[in-house]
Amino acid sequence: MEPRELKPKVYWIGAIDWDRRLFDALIPLPDGTSYNAYLVHGSHKVALIDAVDPPMTDVLMAYLEDIPAIDYVIANHAEQDHSGSISCVLDKYPNAKVITTPKGKDMLTALLLIPEDSFITVSDGETLSLGDKTLEFIHAPWVHWPETMLTYLREDKILFPCDLFGSHLATTDLYVTDGGQVYEASKRYYAEIMMPFRTSIEKHLEKLKGYEIDMIAPSHGPLHDKPSFILEAYRGWVSDPPKNIVVLPYISMHGSTKKMVEYLVGALAQRGVTVKQFDLAVTDIGKLAMALVDAATIVIGTPTVLVGPHPNVAYAAFLANALRPKVKFVSIIGSYGWGSKAVEQLSGMIPNLKVEVLGPVISKGFPEASDFKALDNLANTIAEKHKEHGFA
Ligand code: FEO
Repeated sequence: MEPRELKPKVYWIGAIDWDRRLFDALIPLPDGTSYNAYLVHGSHKVALIDAVDPPMTDVLMAYLEDIPAIDYVIANHAEQDHSGSISCVLDKYPNAKVITTPKGKDMLTALLLIPEDSFITVSDGETLSLGDKTLEFIHAPWVHWPETMLTYLREDKILFPCDLFGSHLATTDLYVTDGGQVYEASKRYYAEIMMPFRTSIEKHLEKLKGYEIDMIAPSHGPLHDKPSFILEAYRGWVSDPPKNIVVLPYISMHGSTKKMVEYLVGALAQRGVTVKQFDLAVTDIGKLAMALVDAATIVIGTPTVLVGPHPNVAYAAFLANALRPKVKFVSIIGSYGWGSKAVEQLSGMIPNLKVEVLGPVISKGFPEASDFKALDNLANTIAEKHKEHGFA
């Protein structure tokens, strides 16, 4: 593919990874991804903004074949999908300087063994002149690692935020054309990668209000030539109160827990609460993460395995705890044969969730009338709590 011009002398030179299906050996990528790098030609200096994932280094180097000099490599983020090919770029341009935050330098040195004298570290708000184009560096820790920064091209009003505002979406569309598809991919990306840092992101969004932004050029997925689309989506995801939604991940081995789940889902629906039910034996964890973005309550459904929760349920609880959604209430339902510590063990696995724990409903064997009554009470409590808090 040829370089694609965003503004005069500013080019996308990324790599599209159509077939990648897993990121960090953890995150499903149903629609592939891209690693967007950018080339900015000033009247005096040339800068490369971010690089690409190591397996796609050849794609980046092909773009650079006819570029005689690169003066600066802007490393917004040290994770290897954006930095892993920097060493190859430096092999071709040994005089180029890597521009990054002080923490970025530490991490790039450790991860890529880049020599000390190749770096120039920049402070928050510092600028770098390329001649007729000026880059401003905005420190923005925790989007997604502690060293991250955003780069703002002043004259063209383009923000290069690396991971922030990205989406794992392989497409030949340079800009967002299918808004529905990009919203879905961006929300999945936010849920899986950015949600644990929503408090930091809230502050960064406030800081960005001081910048005139015509275009957002992230390092994954299509670019935003209408930035309000993604800025407003992020404001809603990080700041808005949760909605009248229960997320219900569960496992059932012999049908008892499933019967309870089905009953509770019906009882909640009858009371006007939206429920998103996930059988963890078959669930795409990205879908589960997305559901957590807006949920007010999580109800975990588990049978008892060797006195504790089912391992798949423990994994889901670990994940929810790590993702730190803005959920306000948690409850546990499930079953056991001869004894269970599932409630105690699961409750101990979610210390990051600042939630009120609602009374669990645990059935010995297949649920009977008293268990269904307890599930009705739980549904009443959830519906009332949501109403009290104004979750709509
Ligand atoms: Fe796309 Fe945190 O790397």
